[in-house]
Amino acid sequence: MYIMAFDCGTTSARTLIYDDKFHVVAKAQKEIRQYFPQPGWVEEDPAEIFSTQLGTATEAMAKVGLTASDITAIGLTNQRETTVVWDKATGEVIYNAIVWQCRRTVETVARLKPYRDMIYNKTGLELDAYFSATKIAWILDHVAGARLRAEAGELAFGTVDTYVIWRLSGEHVTDVSNASRTMLYNIHRMDWDDELLTLMGVPRSMLPEVKDSAGLFGTVATHYFGADIPITAAIGDQQSALFGSGALHRGDAKNTYGTGAFLLMNTGDEVVRSQNGLVSTVAWRLKGEVTYALEGSIFIAGAGVQWLRDEMKLIDSAEDSEYLAAKVSDTAGCVIVPAFTGLGAPYWDGSARGTVCGLTRSVTKAHFVRATLESVAYLSYDVLHAMEEDLGGLTELKVDGGASANNFLMQFQADIIGRPVLRGKDVETTVKGAAYLAAIGAGKMELEDVLHEMVPDRTFMPAMANDVRQEKLALWHKAVGRSGHWAD
Ligand code: G3P
Repeated sequence: MYIMAFDCGTTSARTLIYDDKFHVVAKAQKEIRQYFPQPGWVEEDPAEIFSTQLGTATEAMAKVGLTASDITAIGLTNQRETTVVWDKATGEVIYNAIVWQCRRTVETVARLKPYRDMIYNKTGLELDAYFSATKIAWILDHVAGARLRAEAGELAFGTVDTYVIWRLSGEHVTDVSNASRTMLYNIHRMDWDDELLTLMGVPRSMLPEVKDSAGLFGTVATHYFGADIPITAAIGDQQSALFGSGALHRGDAKNTYGTGAFLLMNTGDEVVRSQNGLVSTVAWRLKGEVTYALEGSIFIAGAGVQWLRDEMKLIDSAEDSEYLAAKVSDTAGCVIVPAFTGLGAPYWDGSARGTVCGLTRSVTKAHFVRATLESVAYLSYDVLHAMEEDLGGLTELKVDGGASANNFLMQFQADIIGRPVLRGKDVETTVKGAAYLAAIGAGKMELEDVLHEMVPDRTFMPAMANDVRQEKLALWHKAVGRSGHWAD
């Protein structure tokens, strides 16, 4: 049995092929171009998302000489919230994909403030431009004729999972975990919510059918790979990482360092109300049984390193950031708050903007790079702290995702939270989750067979004195205060 898993991520498309022991036999990855048409705006081209994903699948199969008839099933995981609207009849996309990080709808969000509690009660989400609802409304209001076409039932909405599955199979579907990120889905009743649809001005006819996270989503049309392949799983990437890391029981948690960083804790069949700025979300639904999670979403993690490389041109590759940061013993007083697209949990300030504090002539490139990496650890500290206030202490932090390979960042993370950080051998838990679910959805595996225990690669023990940690945190929070409400 071979399972092909797609990770339709924010900054890259990836395909991994697993054998029946869930060993990776092939892997292909390609970056996806991002567009920043105005400060704080982020877009991608849906056609590029699709063709890049397809390209990595073909490449992965070719690397090991597999053909479509060797593949039992496809599982798909994806950047969540990112919004695509297309014409049902022609397939033509009517606007670029508005990426989850995009801040263009902050004014709409401000107008919706009176409904904040109602939205939270139904969706578990904080009212914020991060989620899909206001992005869909923006497209309907800004593309000529779009609202009328939507009301006539001519347009379809999808997050990236839905769009890719629709292109591959013609089915207009999503799973519960992705639906729960739209701010249109009632996570208690597990259905699209008419009151929210009216409030946001989104016609129900645009929305996909919502399914369990494992099961048949559609069958890939033969012409793509040369034979039919069933798509038997779809799940948002952070929920997938929770599943793939084996965090299947209440209280299990993980922090994934990707484009952003996302700390999720499994809360079983209970929707936990956060008092500290975290959101409740659907983790997955299997055979009708829902598992929920508490989530702290950090908008910039690996994206900060990318910014150092692509915009600031301070490093040539992500690996350079580790080397440079480790060359200096501190940041020479420099603190960077990477609020490029506002701040997510626990601050939820869509108008915050990136801030560099404490610059002096002593600050070198290495200090600047180190301050950017440190900011990811500080933001994770803030989310962890909020989660502990809500649910009690975590004795250790399990980590995964591409940027968790950065040893400097992981050591600093352990230092700043004062607890061990455990990195698994397999940091590809996001794709692994989708692969497990695809096998379950294809009837080739049971939930009980999923590996629950992380196989550790390295544990980073905290080594910073408490007073030093407190001093650094105080400086960090002072800098966060400076970045707040900047774009109001
Ligand atoms: O909510 C956004 C998230 O799904 C994006 O994930 O892996 O691209 O940082 P990633």
